[in-house]
Amino acid sequence: MAAVSLSGKNILLGVTGGVAAYKAAELCRLLRKAGADVRVGMTEAAKRFVTPLTFQSLSGKPVLTSIWEAADGDGMAHIRASREADLILVAPATAEFLAKLAHGRADDLLSTLCLARSVPLYVAPAMNQAMWSAAPTQRNLAQLHADGVRVLGPAAGEQACGETGPGRMLEPAELLAELLAGHVHGELAGRRVVVTAGPTFEPIDPVRGLTNRSSGKMGYAVASAAREAGAAVCLVSGPTCLAVPAGVRRVDVETAAQMRAAVLAELPADVFIAVAAVADYRVETAARQKLKKDASGLRLELTPTPDILAEVAARADAPFCVGFAAETENLIAHAEAKRQRKNVPLLVANLAQDTFGRDSAELVLLDAAGRHPLPRADKTVQARAIIRHIAAHLN
Ligand code: C5P
Repeated sequence: MAAVSLSGKNILLGVTGGVAAYKAAELCRLLRKAGADVRVGMTEAAKRFVTPLTFQSLSGKPVLTSIWEAADGDGMAHIRASREADLILVAPATAEFLAKLAHGRADDLLSTLCLARSVPLYVAPAMNQAMWSAAPTQRNLAQLHADGVRVLGPAAGEQACGETGPGRMLEPAELLAELLAGHVHGELAGRRVVVTAGPTFEPIDPVRGLTNRSSGKMGYAVASAAREAGAAVCLVSGPTCLAVPAGVRRVDVETAAQMRAAVLAELPADVFIAVAAVADYRVETAARQKLKKDASGLRLELTPTPDILAEVAARADAPFCVGFAAETENLIAHAEAKRQRKNVPLLVANLAQDTFGRDSAELVLLDAAGRHPLPRADKTVQARAIIRHIAAHLN
């Protein structure tokens, strides 16, 4: 099956200077075996680990190495090489190369190809575990995620330097599987998905506010599962302590009004999944200064917040809308009523007291066809099941 799965795809394989460069040779072979046309671009440092001749033999094409050679002819070879590709995969991607990408630098051929691209860019980081965990690397990764670069791995384990930890490049077969899953066979490949997650925070004064209990775990898991299925995912997130899922673009918001504006700015989309626990009320005008404690108490005038899900579902260009309902009693009846009131085709119901802050959840999916119970499982597992259900509706 793999023999045809990448057929007709032009892949630009970028190799940068890490010891994992030797694995890129095997990756090049696997990509070609899977039917892809592979063009290899190497940095100067990569040439210290593996010779261009190796990649020329494996890809059957001259290897792109120097920006100055690329200036032959009309001098536009770097633009053409990135235009001709369907995707760029940089494997291994060193800490240095990730830093360059994050800053939009283009001081060699490979970084120039990446900057000039209009196609998806995947990177497979490979570095020492301390370099991976270092604050600058993590800052650069956050930027790359925000720029829509898809980060594959790294794996954790024993490293060439003798240390153990995260930073090992995924194995060539795993990288191939990721490309196939996300770029070619993903159930949501080519779809745009917007997810809301976490609580919102509605200020009362500069130090106090109204919020909901929500860790954001379910919403983040849903965003991650949608990306795994090949979608371009925007995660509009209220305040949480969670890391941005790989390959997902996150927009941070605080209030329901900001969440609404951020979601509307992402439309049109194919799917909208409202997982956020949006505060139902806000204080009409938050105090500019900290309110003083008063023994006689405090009365707050509360105004309803906009219902983002209902508003998106009512649009003429409405995406496929999915709501979540956390109820404390009469789960199915309340959730089905909510599905009809908000006019959404799919609603995910769970018992509130059963899920807060936990890593697992027991869910019931409600759609026009009826109930689909999902027995208790890890939220990442549930999120994948939800995404499969959505994909089945769409396809
Ligand atoms: O009305 P309730 O908060 O129970 O509905 C839950 C669903 O509606 C969730 O999917 C939630 O993200 C969404 N919602 C929203 N905007 C609100 C309130 C809820 O999008 N203001």
